[in-house]
Amino acid sequence: MKIISVVGARPNFMKIAPFIHTIKKYNSENTNTIEHILVHTGQHYDDRMSKAFFDALNIPEADINLGIGSGSHAEQVGNTMIAFEKVLRKKKPDWVVVVGDVNATLACSVTAKKEHIKCCHIEAGLRSGDITMPEEVNRLVTDRLSDLLLTPDKLSIDNLINEGTRKSKIKFVGNIMIDTLEKQKNKAEKLIIKNVIENNLIGKTDISVSENNYALMTLHRPSNVDKKDVFEPIIDFLLNNVAKDMPLLWPIHPRAKKQLEQFGIYHKVEECSNIILLQPLNYHDMLRLNMGAKIMLTDSGGLQEECTVLGTPCLTLRWNTERPITLKEHGGASVLVGNNIERIKAEYNNTLTENTKPMRPELWDGKTAERCLEAIIKSTLL
Ligand code: UD1
Repeated sequence: MKIISVVGARPNFMKIAPFIHTIKKYNSENTNTIEHILVHTGQHYDDRMSKAFFDALNIPEADINLGIGSGSHAEQVGNTMIAFEKVLRKKKPDWVVVVGDVNATLACSVTAKKEHIKCCHIEAGLRSGDITMPEEVNRLVTDRLSDLLLTPDKLSIDNLINEGTRKSKIKFVGNIMIDTLEKQKNKAEKLIIKNVIENNLIGKTDISVSENNYALMTLHRPSNVDKKDVFEPIIDFLLNNVAKDMPLLWPIHPRAKKQLEQFGIYHKVEECSNIILLQPLNYHDMLRLNMGAKIMLTDSGGLQEECTVLGTPCLTLRWNTERPITLKEHGGASVLVGNNIERIKAEYNNTLTENTKPMRPELWDGKTAERCLEAIIKSTLL
């Protein structure tokens, strides 16, 4: 059997790593081996957004890099499809495996189906219900086309069934990203917070940061960072509230940095001594800072999930989530606060007084990649 798996952007790397390691293990134990080809579309290309993750998670260098780079959504998707079609015609795989909800997921699932190649989606069935999110469009199209839909939780199965997906195409496998967390957490635990900061610092700081005395933030969604009248009040909240209570560590996404500069407000953040700006972090550094944080503020889906398993209280700066299983009402660590400042303030104060415990949704057990490969092999034999 020949499988092509696809990655494009940072959140894909922690999902594909366990899958690749599982194929390697399978090949060492079986005579009927799987030929695996890794394709990187090149959407994320900075070393800190891409190579650092390949190195840290022991992902072999991509066999093929499509070199797509940045651009509008149509440019990214269109260029990926043109390049990926050539790869498929040459390599003729039995399966294309896509993960998550980035532009590569959409582009490569569509291309695979147009070439009559079977497609498997790992992390299927997540729905925010918010069609203005580029990721929601990617999820809907990918799931509609895929032959095998591997879901991280049971709520996702309901979403697929409600959309009319045949039950036989769906398999509940758990959350593959948690395989990576389980494998890497001991290494991350050993890191020293002070060193993590020093190694990634933008500018200078004389603030001392220790276990459980700091806030950690990431922001990158267009809905938060692309409009000045949304982004600036968030910045003012950070300056007037969070940074008054404790140091705030902010590994800043290239998109957020670019927008702050364009709006002429980057200097406000730079000048606040209790906000410590960091470069985009590698996997272990981020995990270590998450483990020690008093509170997380984020618009990232992946961090919402990691906070749930680690028990870090998490304010999710979004109005909806495709990952309801991570919310407090389902036992998780996260609460949706959108970008309304009064709501953010109220939930921020609540969260600081509450005790959040780690929670593990069903099958978030570190063995999801094995179930994914098993499901693919079984579907191939049918
Ligand atoms: C993408 C994903 C999003 C994911 C996020 C994680 C889609 C639709 N979005 O959003 O789901 O949560 O990645 O980071 O696929 N840039 C760099 N260096 C890089 C990559 C990007 O400077 O290595 C810049 C680009 O020039 C662009 C901005 O960052 O201006 C945004 O990059 P882009 O890949 O378009 O989307 P993300 O916002 O990162």
